[in-house]
Amino acid sequence: LKFFIDTANIGDIQKAYKIGVLSGVTTNPSLVAKEGVKFEDRISEILQLVPEVESVSAEVTPNALSAEEMIAEANELIKINKGDNKITIKLPMTLAGLEACRYLTRKGVKTNITLIFTVNQALLAARAGATYVSPFLGRLDDISEDGVLLVSKIAELFRIHKLDAQIIAASVRHPDHVTRVAMAGAHIATIPFSVIEQLTRHPLTDQGMEKFAADWSKAPKL
Ligand code: E4P
Repeated sequence: LKFFIDTANIGDIQKAYKIGVLSGVTTNPSLVAKEGVKFEDRISEILQLVPEVESVSAEVTPNALSAEEMIAEANELIKINKGDNKITIKLPMTLAGLEACRYLTRKGVKTNITLIFTVNQALLAARAGATYVSPFLGRLDDISEDGVLLVSKIAELFRIHKLDAQIIAASVRHPDHVTRVAMAGAHIATIPFSVIEQLTRHPLTDQGMEKFAADWSKAPKL
């Protein structure tokens, strides 16, 4: 399982990048709006911050409803990346999104189909040529469905049919989600920094640190 960070916050991206676990960044209109900055400027900043990652997802705006509008926005976003193939165009799971995905894939642009809630949606996205498919497990859990089960079914289907699209487990809310999607066969989990931080923690680690410190304070000093 690779880690992407799910945020448009520069500080959080820097913190995650520093510890060396980051393979990518995902953003969405809500995450960018929260930052109160211009969308293209923030994507450009993020691209410069994380030179060694494989992908930075920038989503077409909710105003782009037709494939043509999505492609026009994608073309502007690609310019920010100046020839590097890191930028990944995030497209909604709609007929227009699939059409734009097929077009962009043929142009060699990476794509991420977002807002996936069923196996069939993931299958369609993979067949349309998506580089990544993003099932939203937390939002399924919120309506009493099983988000991890969806990820595991998509992983099995992609294995059976030898589909290349990588599964990004999205809408990840806590460390147990991370473990379970890793075991279920997701290629990537995109998670907020708060969850990355939680992954590092265990009460026995804290206790162990405290005990080492207490014992060390009693050790003879040179
Ligand atoms: C994924 O790419 C989305 O940005 C994200 O994971 C959505 O998560 P949420 O359900 O916590 O908003």
